[in-house]
Amino acid sequence: MANRVDDDGRPMRTGTWVTASAHIITAVIGSGVLSLAWAIAQLGWVAGPATLIIFSLITLFTSTLLADAYRHPDPVTGQRNYTYMDAVRAHLGGLKVRFCGVAQYSNLVGVTVGYTITASISMEMVRGSKCFHGKDKCHASTTLDMVVFGCIQLILCQVPNFHNLSRLSILAAVMSLTYSLIGLGLSIVKVASGTKLNEGGETRTTSATVSEAQRLWRIFQAIGDIAFAYAYSTVLIEIQDTLKSSPAENKTMKRASLVGISTTTIFYLLCGCVGYAAFGEDAPGDLLSGTGFNHPVWLLNVANVCVAIHLIGAYQVFAQPIFSFVETSCRQRWPEVKFVSTDHQITIPFLGGMSFHVNWFRVVWRSAYVAVTTVLAMVLPFFNVFLGLIGAVSFWPLTVYFPIEMYIARAKIPKFSVSWMCLQALSFVCLLISLIAAAGSVEGLVQSLKTYHPFKNEA
Ligand SMILES: *[C@@H]1O[C@H](CO)[C@@H](O)[C@H](O)[C@H]1NC(C)=O
Repeated sequence: MANRVDDDGRPMRTGTWVTASAHIITAVIGSGVLSLAWAIAQLGWVAGPATLIIFSLITLFTSTLLADAYRHPDPVTGQRNYTYMDAVRAHLGGLKVRFCGVAQYSNLVGVTVGYTITASISMEMVRGSKCFHGKDKCHASTTLDMVVFGCIQLILCQVPNFHNLSRLSILAAVMSLTYSLIGLGLSIVKVASGTKLNEGGETRTTSATVSEAQRLWRIFQAIGDIAFAYAYSTVLIEIQDTLKSSPAENKTMKRASLVGISTTTIFYLLCGCVGYAAFGEDAPGDLLSGTGFNHPVWLLNVANVCVAIHLIGAYQVFAQPIFSFVETSCRQRWPEVKFVSTDHQITIPFLGGMSFHVNWFRVVWRSAYVAVTTVLAMVLPFFNVFLGLIGAVSFWPLTVYFPIEMYIARAKIPKFSVSWMCLQALSFVCLLISLIAAAGSVEGLVQSLKTYHPFKNEA
């Protein structure tokens, strides 16, 4: 207990590759894993898995570059930077810092709103499981579930910083592996039993009725889905900033990236391919929602509870960097305002005299943030399509462009040398993918807007 502060006076960091891997798995697997069967169905048996593997390799490569950008100028002995934006400022400076900030924080805010929606859909599936899987049709509304989710976040967001999140993150990572396994198991059973598709007798758009143009849009969207299924670069530096400094953070982080990404890739491949084998071209957008499996109900309920718990943790992983960004900026801007800068020590007697620090600004602003994202989620039920667009637009800068540019600046790679050309070519290809996926999302957004009903969620 003697040494609670770091070399720079910040709270001692205690993270290890285990907690970092948990953060990564929590952040990456998202509920994206459930839509991968759909994505693979659009791309087919060869291109689907190949795309998955290519993106996992690109992400692994660029996250290795990013891990070295945490300290500057030297990856091991340089000075720490606490956020992605600070790292970009130290390496590149200028307008790029702004660009990075906009891409990163709009992505983070978007993800928190998106998770509120996805979690509420899962909670609703559990609450209304009798209606979904039975005969009667009940009126479905996720508004109540969003309020419940918001209330839980209201409490959790008082966790002062990312460092204190590791237990929640490990729980969330376990949850995400659990529901992936359930989805996988159900798919395997379905493949093995050879159950006829479309048992419910509902008509679905099958590939035969989809026009060529639509098919192309869907391929674009599928590529986008897969590309963003790995997007955790947004929080990579922030995760790295929870690691203890020996062994060197960049080493630990590379190990955690390898563990996190390979675990996810295995799950993605399994869930995507087996899901595709089970449903064929009709693979649903979400394996666990009513359009996928219908029974056994209890197992689907367990899976959906896992989704909800996972997203509760994942919300925090994405929200904490926003919180600390705003709080740090405000403290720098108004250092003399007591409301912003003072921590009050509060001791709780019955918890063995445990004491913690309360900052009223933190309490008020974080609560307001949760309230606003919850309301946004209620008003914009088609937000997840919009999130696809944010993901598409920010994939290239955050996952590819900045890591590569920072590496070029740090390693002083001469212009037009071979490695420079290779890196730029990779960057350019990823830019094209980003644009293609963005186009796919815009098309999807246009479709969703046609059937827009506020406060109603078509799960
Ligand atoms: C980031 O690193 C640079 C280079 O060492 C340093 O000058 C800067 O103060 C750091 N920024 C923060 C916010 O620590």
